[in-house]
Amino acid sequence: MKAPKEVLLLSHFIPLLLLLPHSVLSSDPPFSCDSSNTSTKIYRFCNTLLPIRQRVEDLITHLSLEEKISQLGDRAPPIPRLGIPGYKWWSESLHGVSGLGGIHYNGSITTATSFPQVILTAASFDTFLWYRIGEAIGTEARAIYNNGQAEGLTFWAPNINIFRDPRWGRGQETPGEDPMMAGKYAISYVRGLQGDSFLGKGTKRSLKASACCKHFTAYDLDRWKGVVRYSFNAEVSVQDLEDTYQPPFKSCVEEGHASGIMCSYNQLNGVPTCADYNLLTKTARGLWGFDGYITSDCDAVSVIYTNQKYAKTPEDAVAETLKAGMDVNCGEYVQNYSYSAIKQGKLSENDIDRALHNLFTMRMRLGLFNGSPKQLLYGNIAPKQVCSSVHQSLSLEAARDGIVLLKNSEKFLPFDKSKVTSLGVIGPNANNAKVLLGNYYGPPCISKTPLQVLQSYVKDTRYIPGCDTALCNSSHISEAVELASSVDYVIMFMGLDQTLEREDFDREDLVLPGMQPNLIASVAGAAKRPVILVVLCGGPVDIESAKVDDKIGGILWAGYPGEAGGLAIAEVIFGEHNPGGRLPVTWYPQEFTRVAMTDMRMRSDAASRYPGRTYRFYTGKSVFSFGYGLSYSTFSYKFKSKLETNIFLNKSIDSLQSIKRHDIISYDISGMSSTNCEKLELSSIVGVENNGPMDGKHTVLLFLRKSSSAGGRPMKQLIGFQRVSLRAGERVDVEFVLKPCEHFAHTEEDGRKMIDKGSHLLVVGEEELEFNFMV
Ligand SMILES: *[C@@H]1O[C@H](CO)[C@@H](O)[C@H](O)[C@H]1NC(C)=O
Ligand SMILES: *[C@@H]1O[C@H](CO)[C@@H](O)[C@H](O)[C@H]1NC(C)=O
Ligand SMILES: *[C@@H]1O[C@H](CO)[C@@H](O)[C@H](O)[C@H]1NC(C)=O
Ligand SMILES: *[C@@H]1O[C@H](CO)[C@@H](O)[C@H](O)[C@H]1NC(C)=O
Ligand SMILES: *[C@@H]1O[C@H](CO)[C@@H](O)[C@H](O)[C@H]1NC(C)=O
Repeated sequence: MKAPKEVLLLSHFIPLLLLLPHSVLSSDPPFSCDSSNTSTKIYRFCNTLLPIRQRVEDLITHLSLEEKISQLGDRAPPIPRLGIPGYKWWSESLHGVSGLGGIHYNGSITTATSFPQVILTAASFDTFLWYRIGEAIGTEARAIYNNGQAEGLTFWAPNINIFRDPRWGRGQETPGEDPMMAGKYAISYVRGLQGDSFLGKGTKRSLKASACCKHFTAYDLDRWKGVVRYSFNAEVSVQDLEDTYQPPFKSCVEEGHASGIMCSYNQLNGVPTCADYNLLTKTARGLWGFDGYITSDCDAVSVIYTNQKYAKTPEDAVAETLKAGMDVNCGEYVQNYSYSAIKQGKLSENDIDRALHNLFTMRMRLGLFNGSPKQLLYGNIAPKQVCSSVHQSLSLEAARDGIVLLKNSEKFLPFDKSKVTSLGVIGPNANNAKVLLGNYYGPPCISKTPLQVLQSYVKDTRYIPGCDTALCNSSHISEAVELASSVDYVIMFMGLDQTLEREDFDREDLVLPGMQPNLIASVAGAAKRPVILVVLCGGPVDIESAKVDDKIGGILWAGYPGEAGGLAIAEVIFGEHNPGGRLPVTWYPQEFTRVAMTDMRMRSDAASRYPGRTYRFYTGKSVFSFGYGLSYSTFSYKFKSKLETNIFLNKSIDSLQSIKRHDIISYDISGMSSTNCEKLELSSIVGVENNGPMDGKHTVLLFLRKSSSAGGRPMKQLIGFQRVSLRAGERVDVEFVLKPCEHFAHTEEDGRKMIDKGSHLLVVGEEELEFNFMV
């Protein structure tokens, strides 16, 4: 099939940019309801005093069937007789406003702030940082729109699918493998981007920009050993769906108030997600109260017929998706086949009106039907806000705070600048600015490679790539060895790049590609002192051999750190920043690749030698575990005020049902009202101390451990995390507010939420605190 636009345009984007003239005059943004035009301002849909619902209803009555159908694709054409301009639904802003879809860097704005790829930002475990990044992106998006360089303000980010399998080429785009954490990321990013508050209930109807939770749902395989996302059927148990795949989406909608959802290419238990009424309408709109628009992934309607043969005709595919609750199709398929679907009696005009209602509501919530946006809310966000110094420092802060120190033998790091008289920089990822950006990037404000930054730290810095690219199928080991043996210190920049992990391309191996391991071992063997290994990659790699190699003194993981990544890495190496990032995903060994990527089960199964997935269920060995990350300081914890050792659930609350299974008595809380659940709020206080020697930020990860993993209970579950900043020697108390129904419950095989009677453990580092549930 024709490659979806999401993929296709990506590769053409940068070359195109280079051809464009340097300074072009900015133009006005497109908008409806020009108040200076007497023929448009009389329409009821232009009357800003009326509720949006009434305005949209009025607008729809003015449209012919042909005009209605025209609006169902991501490129919605103008309706000139009503003064309505075209609208481009598709734009991207994964970690900065990208140049895809409706954004054009061909006016006076030619760049945008490029934040670290999401997996690295996630490693900061800092919700307020995530919010501020979303906020900065929303501001830059508005500035670009106000400057006439955006055809839309609907952005198809964040990607909050669980990073289920380490080989997934798009795992880099996600906040990692923990569902609760992915949910928190979604909430923070979405609220920031949409112009909502960080805390509090939020529910802003008017939007600065629109975020979209994708890909709904159980989408985390792109192309692996001949299995492709366009036809993959994800077979997911009710239990895994309820406590792993859905929670990020639920949070994104319920607490993030996301105004967009994208349904995915794959099927979920035999039904294409874009044609799943139960998923789109009953769950998202019904249960979760979603009030935005639902788009298909690009060409995800056509694949239902072409690749999946789920629909018998194109018209069936169109009718089934619109009836399921999808509103707009990325692509032209729905625009092309809706008329014939109506003629064939498969689709009604009402189905189309339903979708249009959601679509025009969005455009009105974005303020695009209120006359010239320049005079309105957000109208004064100016071009100079793009790449502002505040946003660029935020990008640096995110890179610094995400970087994870994986190894530091005998406090080899940080380096003392005055003692490093000569530095050897080796590796294919040392001098490539594009590698820092990951995927879905826009043209960055600045472009500086790690090598360029290190040259400013140490005058005598010499560089040998060792391999031409990260693929490393041809190497120049002897040159690298020669350099390594002739300098004081060596830093190697290895890992992956977008040729090895990307959209539509999953890995088959977890080890470093090609001759990278030989290059690392040879250089380490030849160097005068232990070498530093900096690994740039999104998905995890098996670097066990480097981990145990005495000649490797330190290892840093820097994800794809964005435009300021080179500087952030140097600051960590030279001790100007104390690293505090922690891995948001398990680093599995190569032997994990014997597991089929298509196996969606989270829970391990001894009978079939299935090891399970993520720190919650994986029973095998890890190279590094979820939450792992060192610092130049040591931190210690103490549970302070003890929780009550016995916590009583009020038996008469909502007539609590109990069941006994696997010798454990549990209480069914699925039917319990949220207000009754909230009554049970508890507080747990953890004292954290920075034992020095450096000031630093540190994330406290609070886990729950149950006394049994019977019935698929997670072995361990993250229930809270907080980032604190501590001077050397300083200690603070960190409070976690715990809600039993949210934090102590587990999901049964049948999907019900239960709380176990009896013993539970709270775990922070090596500290444990036991308590009991009683009734
Ligand atoms: C006013 O709006 C109408 C559409 O209703 C359009 O045809 C016309 O060109 C507009 N006039 C001006 C002066 O822009
Ligand atoms: C920028 O590019 C878009 C899309 O190609 C085009 O529609 C627009 O006219 C261009 N703007 C300028 C000022 O060249
Ligand atoms: C839709 O129709 C147009 C015009 O006939 C055609 O060029 C285009 O390829 C069609 N697209 C799809 C996805 O069917
Ligand atoms: C290395 O891999 C690239 C891309 O697959 C290929 O074009 C090239 O021929 C390979 N080089 C060697 C020396 O194997
Ligand atoms: C238990 O819950 C019921 C119903 O909500 C309430 O009337 C009663 O006061 C509660 N008892 C205690 C001890 O909290």
